[in-house]
Amino acid sequence: MRKLVCPGSFDPVTNGHVDVFERAAALADEVVVAVLINSGKKGLFSIEERVELLQVVTKDLKNVRIDTFRGLLVDFCKSIQAQAIVKGLRAVSDFDYELQMSQMNYQAGGVDTIFVATNPAHSFLSSSLVKEFGSLNGDVSQWVPQVVLIALEKKFRK
Ligand code: PNS
Repeated sequence: MRKLVCPGSFDPVTNGHVDVFERAAALADEVVVAVLINSGKKGLFSIEERVELLQVVTKDLKNVRIDTFRGLLVDFCKSIQAQAIVKGLRAVSDFDYELQMSQMNYQAGGVDTIFVATNPAHSFLSSSLVKEFGSLNGDVSQWVPQVVLIALEKKFRK
């Protein structure tokens, strides 16, 4: 069984992430979207909220499930017997760091990384920019799924 992991913070999930999930789902028997629990970093959304949003936006992708992990990604991959990690590459600027991480993960645990070139329509998109834009009353509706848009509006109206 070919099992792939899409890791990230997903604070919150964007249309760019969903594009990567769909493409990973087409390559694998099972895709595990893995949300990093980083107790040192407080996000806009709690881990539970991120997982819930991810569950809604992937509900039509039948071979995708959502999980969380702490610590090393490579240990998580080994614990669920995943063959590889899938990452989206938005631009050359992503490449240096992603290459280093993929080499480290392979050397440390023999877990490969598959890179998918992000759809150019999403090449500038990041959760951080969506949060900043949204927090300043910008319209982010073209960059996030509807359910995320509603959740962002609730956060920023508080
Ligand atoms: O969405 P993000 O924040 O860019 O995702 C980064 C993530 C979670 C993929 C990366 O920080 C990660 O893999 N963290 C787990 C800790 C780890 O394994 N670090 C060593 C990397 S070589």
